[in-house]
Amino acid sequence: MEGRPDPADAVDDARADDRGALETLREATRGEHERTERAIEGRFFGASGGIDRRGYRALLEAFLGLYRPLDERLVPASRRHLASLRYRRRADRIERDLRVLGCSEDHLDELPTFPRDELPDVDGPHRLLGCLYVVEGSELGGRVIRKRLEKELDDDALRADAFFGTDPGRVRERWTEFRAELEDRLAPGGPVEEAAEAARATFGAFRRWMS
Ligand code: HEM
Repeated sequence: MEGRPDPADAVDDARADDRGALETLREATRGEHERTERAIEGRFFGASGGIDRRGYRALLEAFLGLYRPLDERLVPASRRHLASLRYRRRADRIERDLRVLGCSEDHLDELPTFPRDELPDVDGPHRLLGCLYVVEGSELGGRVIRKRLEKELDDDALRADAFFGTDPGRVRERWTEFRAELEDRLAPGGPVEEAAEAARATFGAFRRWMS
């Protein structure tokens, strides 16, 4: 995968002994991750690998357009199928960052939103886990993205850090909890393939929307 972190950045101990369901989902979506990453880099980041204030704002707006309806789908689905995981909304953190970057409430209200009927199907615990693998896993790349933001953005823009700036220790902790749930609920065989299908559909939604 492009953009692999150096050893100091990787969430190493969270990946050290992963086997089974996690490995299956990772393999099933490796190509999707690469295509999504490339789409985002091509559209929002410059040749230096950095991003300017306008690009950063556009990137957050694009994430918001997808997370608004996705949060609305994941909150009740998680409550219903996986109450122990307590899904945390992303859209409100992104909105906070966009306000720091100067967006008005009117502007936030008018942003385009991903079509609800194209969201991944998360009906049932296995499909939901596949989708959550993508959403929770995406935070693992946060430190790498944060470094890219620091290349060009000034201190004022870097204050908009609610979405990408999550404390790495906290990310690792949540990922460890999530992995345990994943391995518990996705025994090899049927359910893991259902989860992989939902994970691919989730990546597909991100890639189409962010391209
Ligand atoms: C420019 C954009 C992106 C970059 C540079 C990037 C980078 C990374 C990196 C470096 C990792 C490995 C972190 C580690 O293992 O410690 C990672 C993992 C991951 N990323 Fe991304 N990422 C990007 C976008 C996305 C997006 C948009 C999604 C989902 C919507 C996503 C989903 C994931 C998932 C699920 C993993 C965990 C893979 C696994 O270990 O099984 N990434 N990313």
